[in-house]
Amino acid sequence: MATTDAPTTSSRRRYERAAAPTGVEATFGEEEIIVSKTYTTGKITYVNRVFCRVSGYTEAEAIGMPHSAIRHPAMPRCVFQLLWDTIARGEEIFAYVVNLGRDGSHYWVFAHVTPTFDSAGQIVGYHSNRRWPDREAIAAIEPIYAALLEAEQGHPTKADAIAASTRLLGRVLAERGQTYEAFVFSLGQAVA
Ligand SMILES: Cc1cc2nc3c(=O)[nH]c(=O)nc-3n(C[C@H](O)[C@H](O)[C@H](O)COP(=O)(O)O)c2cc1C
Repeated sequence: MATTDAPTTSSRRRYERAAAPTGVEATFGEEEIIVSKTYTTGKITYVNRVFCRVSGYTEAEAIGMPHSAIRHPAMPRCVFQLLWDTIARGEEIFAYVVNLGRDGSHYWVFAHVTPTFDSAGQIVGYHSNRRWPDREAIAAIEPIYAALLEAEQGHPTKADAIAASTRLLGRVLAERGQTYEAFVFSLGQAVA
């Protein structure tokens, strides 16, 4: 499977939409890693077997799919804005993410997303490794994500919604006196 060629016909492909969320949680092993790689556009270029099993997409279905296909409606958009801003600068980011499986199930992950550079130092794609998350961290992040999501409601544009939740995330971090990264790593350590 190609990882460096630009997408061609894939941009015209139609994708099966995931079912509506069912509330059923899908799990995976603590020793497993859900891996995907994307073009700089976010289109998927590689998935591993664990990705396929947990998300419910075959490799053939997943390759070429935009990564937003597995976005769960409980995920605040400001988290993805932060993710893209960070990786586009050439930096790594860690995030708790709940994803939508093809059958409407959901699965929480602790994601580590990194840019892939060519020999000239240019970003040629992105890579995400996802592990089974600490359950205390999920319990701590859920109400924060719910508040961020609420802050995104009722805005005329997606950009306005993201700006509103980004401001709220900034306030949450300021109250804690933490950077985003320190905040993420403090979750699940009984200080959240
Ligand atoms: C390497 C990589 C992995 C990603 N993994 C996920 C993921 O697991 N779940 C998800 O919802 N979005 C993921 N995204 C972000 C999506 O591209 C997208 O920004 C997000 O789903 C929000 O959708 P939207 O941009 O259409 O609002 C990933 C992006 C990259 C570059």
